Amino acid sequence: MKTIHIDLPGNSYRYQVKIGSQILSSVLKDNFLNYSEKRIFLVTNSTLHALYPEFEQTFLPEKLESECLILPDGEQYKTLETVSRIFDFLVDKKANRKSILIAFGGGVIGDIAGFAASAFMRGIAYIQIPTTLLSQVDSGIGGKTGINHKAGKNLIGAFKQPLQTIVDVDFLKTLPEREFIAGYAELIKHGFIRDPYLFQLLNHKNLNELKSDEELLIESIFRSCEVKARVVEADEKETSQRAILNFGHTLGHFLETHTNYKQFLHGEAVIIGMDYAAWWSFQQGFLDEADFRIIHDHLYSLGIMKTIPPVTRDEFIRIIEVDKKFSDEGIRFIGLTGIGKARIFDRISSESLWDNLQAYFQTGALLKLA
Ligand SMILES: NC(=O)c1ccc[n+]([C@@H]2O[C@H](COP(=O)([O-])OP(=O)(O)OC[C@H]3O[C@@H](n4cnc5c(N)ncnc54)[C@H](O)[C@@H]3O)[C@@H](O)[C@H]2O)c1
Repeated sequence: MKTIHIDLPGNSYRYQVKIGSQILSSVLKDNFLNYSEKRIFLVTNSTLHALYPEFEQTFLPEKLESECLILPDGEQYKTLETVSRIFDFLVDKKANRKSILIAFGGGVIGDIAGFAASAFMRGIAYIQIPTTLLSQVDSGIGGKTGINHKAGKNLIGAFKQPLQTIVDVDFLKTLPEREFIAGYAELIKHGFIRDPYLFQLLNHKNLNELKSDEELLIESIFRSCEVKARVVEADEKETSQRAILNFGHTLGHFLETHTNYKQFLHGEAVIIGMDYAAWWSFQQGFLDEADFRIIHDHLYSLGIMKTIPPVTRDEFIRIIEVDKKFSDEGIRFIGLTGIGKARIFDRISSESLWDNLQAYFQTGALLKLA
């Protein structure tokens, strides 16, 4: 088992991320050794409950009783109503300030349950058990929690660090292929922005090789989480460096919005967004051609190629400018100066990104217009 220590000096808080295979019950047992309460509160969704119906009996410490809330599955339930359901559940079951909430699921469950934990009785402890590759390398670390509003994704939220995050790769065995690729986007992103060795580990490996090689999978997730952990430690509230985690997300956000969140999983949009951002960096003379080709070939090998509906310049600019990465001074765009070296470019104009996008379409890379 591998452990990452996260130290947040800003709020004098430390916690650990445990990573391994079949580690969940023993890690949970250790967590609750000195716990004085009799019950824990589990939040999960219907898909995970169907796949792991014996979760409570198998993984939770015997001496504890658990209360379980099963939410419907889907991003469309990442709402205030669902948070309200969690509050009702906690009140009905007489949870108190010392109660611990466990979030068992992907990023959606982690985000909603974490947000509920941040507000219930002004904040109770919670443990993250992320079950998608995306949540294991990304949303399970960093303390961002939240819900969607009809005006935009993740508009309402809070920073709430967990008591612990437990990454058990065994759960990935049931994860659908498409979700695995989407999570891989965030995993390899951490290699592109900060860890060339992580990229070297995975370059020339296909995803089936990664899935079936448990040691490689754990090492890759560990290194990827390390990158996120160190970035978050340095800049918990995203005042500066944390922005590098948005590599690939400017175009990614546009693709998801332009297609009404129906055509792309988030990670799929990020794969194309990273290809575009690497190409942009090469075009601007920051990234040399050889590195661009290596990055492009790797992303191309993931097999994500999409055709999107036509878009006008005005539509593009409107979407890009509602993104959180836009300010009056322009877009904060994340580019690369090498593999493992991200750089923040401020004050990039939406118009110049549009012009670049037209040229990117001409390369016929991963994106085409219908
Ligand atoms: N808080 C953060 O820092 C942060 C970072 C990135 C993304 N997010 C959020 O995370 C969410 C996306 O997370 P996600 O990609 O994990 O999606 P998700 O939680 O919707 O999970 C994807 C699908 O996989 C299913 N699933 C989960 N684990 C499974 C398993 N082990 N076996 C089989 N099926 C399983 C889920 O039920 C769901 O149908 C978005 O809402 C996004 O905004 C948050």
